[in-house]
Order: sequence, then C-alpha cells, then structure tokens
Amino acid sequence: MEDVKKDSWGSNFGFLLAAVGSAVGLGNIWGFPYKMGRNGGGAFLIIYLFLILIVGFAVMLGELVIGRKTGMGPVGAYKKLSKKYAAIGYMGIISGFLILSFYSVLGGMVMKYMFSFFISMFSQDYFVGITSASFFSNFIINGWEMIVYCFLFLLITTIIVMRGISKGIEKFTKIAMPALGVLLVAIILFVLFQENAIEGLKFMFKPAFSVYSASSDIGFFTVLKTAAGQMFFSLSLGMGCMMTYGSFLKKDTNLEKNALIIPIADSIVAIMAGMVVMPAVFAYHLEPSAGPSLLFVSLHEVFVNGMTGFTGSFIGFMFYLLVFIAAITSSISLLEVCISYINDKNEENHKHKGSKIPQIVISIIVLVIGIPVALDGLGSPGATISFQPFGYSWLDFYDLISEGILMPVGALVMSLIIGWGFKTKIIKEEVEDGQLFKLKGFIFWDICFKIIVPITMIIIIFAQLQDFGIIK
Ligand code: PHE
Repeated sequence: MEDVKKDSWGSNFGFLLAAVGSAVGLGNIWGFPYKMGRNGGGAFLIIYLFLILIVGFAVMLGELVIGRKTGMGPVGAYKKLSKKYAAIGYMGIISGFLILSFYSVLGGMVMKYMFSFFISMFSQDYFVGITSASFFSNFIINGWEMIVYCFLFLLITTIIVMRGISKGIEKFTKIAMPALGVLLVAIILFVLFQENAIEGLKFMFKPAFSVYSASSDIGFFTVLKTAAGQMFFSLSLGMGCMMTYGSFLKKDTNLEKNALIIPIADSIVAIMAGMVVMPAVFAYHLEPSAGPSLLFVSLHEVFVNGMTGFTGSFIGFMFYLLVFIAAITSSISLLEVCISYINDKNEENHKHKGSKIPQIVISIIVLVIGIPVALDGLGSPGATISFQPFGYSWLDFYDLISEGILMPVGALVMSLIIGWGFKTKIIKEEVEDGQLFKLKGFIFWDICFKIIVPITMIIIIFAQLQDFGIIK
C-alpha cells in the first residue's frame, strides 16, 4: 500500500486545536454531567477515566495512524487497507449522520438559550414569572421552534464547512477555547460559594460504589456501558472522525503525543463542566438524575436566580455563546466525516474541486433525520409526536445506536484489524515515522489492540444489546 500526499494542517498546533475542538463540545458540557448524574456520580467518573486510560488512548492512536497512513476518511481508509473492511467505514458514516442530526437539535437549543439570555440583558423581566423547568419544557415541546433552531445551527455548520475550515474557525477557536476555560473557572468559583454546593462536589468525587451492585436500579454494566458510550462520543472516536482529521497530518508529527493530549484536554473540560453543573444542582435543589435537561435547567438557575440581574444575563449569554462555539467546532467535524466519502471519491478520480451540491444535499438529509428528535420534545408529554422507538426518546435512541453500538463495534473491528490483521506493525511503523526514538511502549500498544480493547468492547456491546432487549 502506498502512502498518500494531500492537503495537510498548517502546523501540528493547528491540528491539535481542530481535534480538541472536535472532541470538546456538547458531549462534555451537556452529556457528561447528566450521564454522570444518572449513573451514580463519582462511581461513573472513575470508570470513565479508567476507560480512557485503557481504551481511549489506544483507539485515538489507532485512528490517527490509519488516517495519516491512508490519507482518507473512514470509507476510503478501510477500503485502502483491504476491500473487505469497507463496511466498517460505512458504519462510521452512518454514525456521523445520526449524531449530527441530534447534535444539531441540541446545538439549536443552545442557540435558543443564548438568544434568550441576550434579550434578557436588555429586558430585565424576560425570565420573571417562569421557572427554569417550565421555560425549558415549554420550549422543547414547541416543535416548530425546535426545528427552526436546529436548521439555523446546521446552516451555520454547513456554511463553515463549505468555506473551508482553516481560515475562520481555526482563528476563532484559538480565542474561544481559552475563553470557555476561563468562564468555566469563573462559574465554578461562583457556584461553589452557594449554599449546599459542596454536596455536588461530594457527589462527583466521593464515589458511592453501591450503584454497581445488582440490587441497585442502575448496576455495574449500565454504568460501564454508559461511560464507554460517553467516552467514544466525547472523544469523537469509533466513527472515523479522528481518522479523517488524522488524514491531513504531516508525516513528521508525533502521533503518540497527540493521542495523549486530545483525551487529556477533553477530560479536563468534562470534569470542569461537571464541577459547574453538579454543585448547581445541589445548591438549587434539583435532581442530579434529571437527564438531558440538566445543563439547561441547572444553569438557568445559576444565571437567573443566583447571579441575578444584568450580570446574570450577561454571564449567561457569554456562557451559551461559548458552548455554541464549542458545539460548532464539533459539528463541523461531524459534517466533515459525512462528506469525507464524497471527498475521497473525488480524490480517487483525481478531481480536486468537487461541486458543492452534494454537501448541501447531505445537510438536508441530516436535517430530515433530525426532525423526529426535534418534534418529540426529548420524549416529554405534550410534544408534537409521541411515538418512541423501543420506549426511548428519539434523542436517546439515536444516541444509543451510535455511541452504544456503532462506535464500540467500529472500535472493536479497528483494534482487531490493527492488532491481529496487521500484528500492530502498522502502529509501530507509522509512529516511528515521526519519532526520534524507537517506540518504547510498543508492547503496551500491542496488548491494548490485541486484547484489552477487543474484550472491553465485546462486554460493552453485549450490555447494550441486553438493554435493547435483543439479547437476554
Ligand atoms: N466529541 C463531540 C462532543 O463531545 C461530538 C462528536 C462525536 C464530534 C463524534 C465528532 C464525532 O461534543
């Protein structure tokens, strides 16, 4: 197999920024706190971090290696390794469509909050007379509003991807990401001084292992599979996203270092988001297990009833603006995966500038797939549609198919291909290309790809299928 030359990132820093931008998003700020809240707090956090250590780093390295070696997105890359692997690439693209469709609905919800806090800066009684919970539930059952915001979010994503990501978004993220960090620290400090807030930290950092026991209504396997799904989602792994980004990497970059930095940065942001949401939940007497509404409702409390007045509105607006930017840097990477198939095809046929029409068509398909998610109000009563697949809301359903099944299966097959198909040599060769020293930890990666990742993935897929009632 020949290595390919094509467009590449301006610098490794540019790549890292984009990759961290892809990883850090609604998964960290919205998903992580609510999943932790539903799955026993600290007991979830421990498993989550452990999984990153034994699976996340390896799968990240695997994707970067395959991407850089083949220079293509998932379908092209797997095809290049061997025709018989192509199906795995297609699975990645399907995940991309499913995730981007519900991601756009959520991104739209963030925009609604951003606009609302903006308006409330000038109209002080905007939130008066309505509780945080009813503000949220009134909005999510308003099907048209949900669709319009989802459309807006997807439109912005599409425009950025069509214009090429390097100019605007790279510069933008350079300022936005550090700003998000600073604002998170500021809000953590504010929230921690509220009464009862310390209970939130205890919930997060003092694990109650009783949730693992069979007698609890959660149980070890639910915690494990939720943490695993969350890890894939949050690190943008298991569906070819990091492969696609890795395909633009130059040969002299240190892949191992990148594969460590991205998960570490991502976990720090997730933990910070937890430290904003959990103490707020306890300070304002909310339920940690409330589910997908948690971020919206708990922070509404902080900004409207905690900080109050213009300051609260202003900080609230800034916060949702930065969450919106973090979401956009993720959604563009999702759209990149969806269109990588077309780009790879163009490359194969030596067409360097393809038409933009397929990109628009893809965004329209994503919008259509997202419609049930926008219309069922996250499964709330009174929403426009009430049909729920397998008893899940459409959001949960798409989420479980992608992060519960397709992503772990993608990671499983990839590690089998790397570990057993290529005897992990593909990692060794590609990593050494960019290293001065011979790979010291090779045995470590060998064991990861051959044994640890596959076994963990099989357990997780099994637990997920059992949850769907497909396996007894
Ligand atoms: N990692 C992103 C987040 O946490 C979501 C994402 C998943 C992006 C898969 C790309 C691929 O929000």
